[in-house]
Amino acid sequence: MLKVENLDKTFRTGAGDVHAVRDVSFEAKDGELVAIIGASGSGKSTLLSLLGLLDAPDKGSIDLDGIELANLDSPGRTQFRSRQVGFVFQQFNLIPNLSARENVKLALEFAHWPKNDRDARAHEMLNLVGLDASKADRRPAKLSGGEQQRVAIARAFAAQPQLILADEPTGSLDKATGQKIVELLRKVANTQKATVLVVTHDEKIAKKADRRLEIDDGILKEIT
Ligand SMILES: Nc1ncnc2c1ncn2[C@@H]1O[C@H](COP(=O)(O)OP(=O)(O)OP(=O)(O)O)[C@@H](O)[C@H]1O
Ligand SMILES: [Mg+2]
Repeated sequence: MLKVENLDKTFRTGAGDVHAVRDVSFEAKDGELVAIIGASGSGKSTLLSLLGLLDAPDKGSIDLDGIELANLDSPGRTQFRSRQVGFVFQQFNLIPNLSARENVKLALEFAHWPKNDRDARAHEMLNLVGLDASKADRRPAKLSGGEQQRVAIARAFAAQPQLILADEPTGSLDKATGQKIVELLRKVANTQKATVLVVTHDEKIAKKADRRLEIDDGILKEIT
């Protein structure tokens, strides 16, 4: 269970302050797929980077399964990022000189997954996301965009994180592939009981989520 309360973030820049996230509160259950929509510059990516501890809020609390993330020290934050949260990006962000399988295994290594189990776990994950076994040893450049995103999803979920943060995961894909990817996110979220937050501009993608949240100039509201 993710509980976010009164999260607030202002960027101080030479050109003035930008109040990017304003007093945001919401909850999301394990296994739930939540879409976050909103105009460009409304604060979607900033919110995800606060939740993934890539950036620190000015105030507010993020409670994941009873653990207050704001109270973690620096090693605790690093451990959280490698074990409890997975990221999926628009541009896939796979490591180009590693194969699909090696990309997944590297995430398991970062998460200190037992060495002897990494190969089997990578195989299991690539199978779960539907990557053809004959393609597991290809580098990302030899895979289609949709296949690369499947590998990125396998990587994000491999170490069984509780939280997956996906920023425009379908933004580089055609509509049909995008639909398949969001269905895949839902399937893996369900299988692994992880909370998945998906930022999207695409109304059709958002409709596939269990719930939709809209952010407008930093203010988050539930769409009912
Ligand atoms: N590191 C930063 N320093 C200063 N301002 C920032 C920083 N990151 C984001 N902003 C500003 O905060 C606001 C929210 O940005 P954010 O990237 O969260 O928007 P977004 O909803 O993800 O937009 P998009 O849909 O275009 O990706 C914008 O006004 C942006 O210019
Ligand atoms: Mg963004």
